[in-house]
Amino acid sequence: MSEIYEKLQKSLESIRKVTDFVPEIGITLGSGLGGLSEKIEKVCEISYKDIEGFPVSTVSGHDGKFIFGTLSGRKVVVMSGRVHYYEGYRMMEVVTPVRIMGLLGAKIILLTNAAGGINIDFNPGDLMLIKDHISVFVPNPLIGQNADELGTRFPDMSSVYDKQLQDQIKEAARVTGVDLQRGVYVQLSGPSYETPAEIRMLRNLGADAAGMSTVVEAIAANHMGLRVAGISCITNMAAGILNQPLNHEEVKATADQVKEKFEKLVMEFIRNAR
Ligand code: HPA
Repeated sequence: MSEIYEKLQKSLESIRKVTDFVPEIGITLGSGLGGLSEKIEKVCEISYKDIEGFPVSTVSGHDGKFIFGTLSGRKVVVMSGRVHYYEGYRMMEVVTPVRIMGLLGAKIILLTNAAGGINIDFNPGDLMLIKDHISVFVPNPLIGQNADELGTRFPDMSSVYDKQLQDQIKEAARVTGVDLQRGVYVQLSGPSYETPAEIRMLRNLGADAAGMSTVVEAIAANHMGLRVAGISCITNMAAGILNQPLNHEEVKATADQVKEKFEKLVMEFIRNAR
């Protein structure tokens, strides 16, 4: 057994001591978007700190627990609070929770995040369907020994974000009357925000939104054959677009303002996700 898989099995065992719940869908909630977890009919909760071998999140606005239950009539596991590379974890550890959601039984993974808008047609408060990503500015989470039990050494990334799920999110947006942008998400390491020059560079490279998560999780999920969907909440315009400094309070405040339409969209998508 590969070392990574052995570690994952230990984490899985400590969860299985608490619950035998098998989720259909795994959901990761981004900064300030944790409110959705209140909509879940909860079966049980497990703090990351109670799971053997699990990294624990340290950012304010990120709780750090798995919530198991029913959302829109579907069995879900929600990662309320994720762990980030900038907290000092290795990428392999950062993707542990998403891998565990897959090993628990989830076949579909919805990744959400707060992001800075690079595309000048976006506005703070917009929701963006992630159609593709740029991963080259952060280490790949699959570096190191390959966990053959999960997937192949050289996984294809030509359609990370499942086309059918993208269509279902667009349909959920139509049904709920929520405006939806579409774009390419780029992950940076953080924790400092980008400079205006970096944002100009990223725009030239084809990125529409920047953040500090999601891409590595999408890679790890794709590696193990899970179907991935992603939604960004554009919480601010990226550096240099508006004549104002960026801060985490603004990110959380905007996420809080859009929470109603975000929750409406996600709940409608989850109801019909196939
Ligand atoms: N840059 C990077 N990450 C972010 C931003 C940003 O502007 N806003 C929210 N997360």
